[in-house]
Amino acid sequence: MHKIKSINASEILDSRGNPTVGVELELDNNIVAISSVPSGASTGIREALELRDNDSNRYKGKGVTEAVNNINNIIAKSIVSLDVRDQENIDQLMIDLDGTEMKPNLGANAILGVSLATLIASSLSEKIPLYKRVSDLINDDSEHILPVPMLNIMNGGAHAVNSTDFQEFMITPVGFESFKEAIRAGSEIYSTLGKILENKGLSTNVGFEGGFAPSGLSNNEVLDFIMEAIEKSNFKPGKEIFIALDPAASEFEKDGKYNLTKDRKILSSEEMIDYYTKLIKKYPIYSIEDGLAEDDWNGWGKFTKKHGKDLQIVGDDLFVTQKKYLKEGIDKISANSILIKFNQVGTISETIETIKMAKKNNFKCVISHRSGETEDTTIADLAVGTGSGQIKTGAPARSDRVAKYNRLLRIEEKLSNSSIYAGNKILNK
Ligand code: PGA
Ligand code: ZN
Repeated sequence: MHKIKSINASEILDSRGNPTVGVELELDNNIVAISSVPSGASTGIREALELRDNDSNRYKGKGVTEAVNNINNIIAKSIVSLDVRDQENIDQLMIDLDGTEMKPNLGANAILGVSLATLIASSLSEKIPLYKRVSDLINDDSEHILPVPMLNIMNGGAHAVNSTDFQEFMITPVGFESFKEAIRAGSEIYSTLGKILENKGLSTNVGFEGGFAPSGLSNNEVLDFIMEAIEKSNFKPGKEIFIALDPAASEFEKDGKYNLTKDRKILSSEEMIDYYTKLIKKYPIYSIEDGLAEDDWNGWGKFTKKHGKDLQIVGDDLFVTQKKYLKEGIDKISANSILIKFNQVGTISETIETIKMAKKNNFKCVISHRSGETEDTTIADLAVGTGSGQIKTGAPARSDRVAKYNRLLRIEEKLSNSSIYAGNKILNK
């Protein structure tokens, strides 16, 4: 009795107030699973495609009624009555139904909504936690690892108007015994940072991912504020707390030049790498994601050659969670880590395949939210179930972000002594 009885999709809202796909999937044992689909703002050009209505009379063209109809009228017909535990088969059926690599016909948002609901329903039906269902799918029966949170406490780039050139400034509390203590440290630093900004007369309004987003600051000024916040909160930077950056460089690169407006600098790819070298020397930065643009493969190779031993170099827009691009990156030694966002590829099965390839090749995996999120917390279970060791899901503030951290707090509590906190094991040095 694990058969899919019905699937109903609806148009719901994400954290930006934009429409997104919500799915309700019911089994013949009356179990009901719901899922909702996230959405990016600084999307990579190679990502699987979200289907939007482009009807300017509704939601400025962003409606998803076509994607919803594709679920209700096309996908439902072919997967109702299948065994919900057959994730791979269901995902493959949808991939075949769409028939293209980028999934524009049914919409990657439609396909992902059903893929997620299938995963959630199978765990409910099997009466096992979602992370356990994920670890069964990836065939990993090692000890459960609670990931280190990468807390995005200052937002810029495409995530906050008039803010920094870099998109994300994250703190990573590694020097702690548990996820719970790491979150406490992160939250205390976040609130101290808010006070520091306030005392300087700067705005404490926040960006899409809950981090502060005052206008007019340079990257260095922000890093100085973060260092001050760590120290004023009585934590040790470079020991207990490290810093991670996601410049999202594709957003400020044009024709091979990187335009740092706040620094009044226009840099070549090599000069951009030198810029990072200086930052790494000055601050305890352990990870840089999308430090170079998504088509600057040459620059990525040089960056990894220069810093890949000591620095986590994460491909987000570069790999878009797809095996094809990850393989290229492995072959060319373009990075040493990959960001995992399931809506960049469109199904759980493909996401897991990408993670498997990364692990096999000693690439680290960072499980990630999108800047447009919902109350769905599946990525928390994905992080534990795959033992990825790191999760980035925004500031320790705003419900769309803390929902994931709260899920991890509950998982850790429940597992009590049978889990370990990834902590400083994630560091290269
Ligand atoms: P996005 O940003 O969800 O807007 O793409 C997140 C990221 O770049 O990591
Ligand atoms: Zn990114």
